[in-house]
Amino acid sequence: MSTPIATPSTGRLAERLLGSRVADALAGPHDVDHYLELLRPDWAVRKIRAEIVDVRHQTPDSVTLTLRPTVTWPGFRAGQHVELAVDVDGRRHRRSYSPSGSADVRTRTVELTVRTHPEGVVSRHLKAHARPGMVVGLSRPQGEDFVLPDVRPRRIALISGGSGITPVLSMLRTLTDEGHTGEITFLHYARSPEDLLYAGDLHRIAERHPNVTLLRCYTRSGDGELTGRLGEEHLRRALPVDEDAAAFVCGPGALVEAVRTAWRELDLRTPLKFEHFAPPELPELDPDQLGAVTFARAGTTVDATGDTLLEQAEAAGLSPKHGCRMGICMTCACRLEHGRVRNTLDGEIHGAPGDEIRICVSAPVGDVTVDV
Ligand SMILES: Cc1cc2nc3c(=O)[nH]c(=O)nc-3n(C[C@H](O)[C@H](O)[C@H](O)COP(=O)(O)OP(=O)(O)OC[C@H]3O[C@@H](n4cnc5c(N)ncnc54)[C@H](O)[C@@H]3O)c2cc1C
Ligand code: FES
Repeated sequence: MSTPIATPSTGRLAERLLGSRVADALAGPHDVDHYLELLRPDWAVRKIRAEIVDVRHQTPDSVTLTLRPTVTWPGFRAGQHVELAVDVDGRRHRRSYSPSGSADVRTRTVELTVRTHPEGVVSRHLKAHARPGMVVGLSRPQGEDFVLPDVRPRRIALISGGSGITPVLSMLRTLTDEGHTGEITFLHYARSPEDLLYAGDLHRIAERHPNVTLLRCYTRSGDGELTGRLGEEHLRRALPVDEDAAAFVCGPGALVEAVRTAWRELDLRTPLKFEHFAPPELPELDPDQLGAVTFARAGTTVDATGDTLLEQAEAAGLSPKHGCRMGICMTCACRLEHGRVRNTLDGEIHGAPGDEIRICVSAPVGDVTVDV
């Protein structure tokens, strides 16, 4: 077990002193956390870091990490996500991941499952290099919408596909840990039984908790409780129909859209919360709408490609601050100095000089200048 930086009896004063601006000034040129990291990676007074204590490879294209965060970790709500920061080839990269473990305060670790993308920088790095003892950066937990309500609904449907299982599994584990007795339906889509993440955990939870109904659906084999793709029949099996109910869906865009469409068409009243891991794909811009992009602070101008301003800045060798890369965290917000942009989430074209825009979800329309 690691020694936290401060014990309740002796450490609060030391913690306050170390966390003060005076301590930072004395410690210069870096902040106190920088020196603490060199001494003990599990010590911190402001920043959050985490040591990887376990690495599992549940499927060939995923890696599951168990992290032990510094005492600065405030805990999370089931369904929230964190930004994980990791150095790849000397460059710091940040990506969002949703903890899959229980949010119960007694759980001292954070579990993340990362699905690898064929060209993904961070997911492939973690799959190949994550080892116990490695230290990564963590943000505070983020996202206030896709979370279990404080007053738990009596019936809950959790729907997911692929790696979208992580936040809803956290909800399931949290509910069962706290002894929730209401009905929970867990409907999950995977290509085949071999692709199913957390197969053993789901089976054990359903076995131990009679109020949990597990519906597995394999889109490429008929071995689950359901077959085929999400439609009215699947929803009928999964859906809470009474007033005191809630539904959550997370997964590939097509699954989330199918659920939302069904909600509209069937005029369902059950509150539905949804989360995407990647922004939906929009039709490409007409080439006539592509102009030049100027990153004013860097003094760089490039031809617009139709990609987001963040992607274009990175392709030009710049490293603007960013977090989620999908318009949630606001880390990438910066000033639009000239031109208009297209919001890649909904296609809307907007912008006037002086507007603050999120460059991760803004693609340039015509000539654009941003304060990057
Ligand atoms: C709120 C939130 C929670 C998330 N939780 C998880 C999680 O629990 N587990 C998990 O595995 N991932 C999760 N993600 C996705 C994760 O943040 C990264 O996007 C993913 O790991 C890919 O990063 P990368 O560096 O490997 O790929 P990048 O180098 O960023 O991208 C490489 C290529 O893959 C494409 N790509 C990137 N992300 C996706 C995606 N999600 N789906 C399809 N194509 C993509 C890009 O368009 C690009 O072409 C979450 C994302 C958000 C916004
Ligand atoms: S990086 Fe999170 S909003 Fe842009």
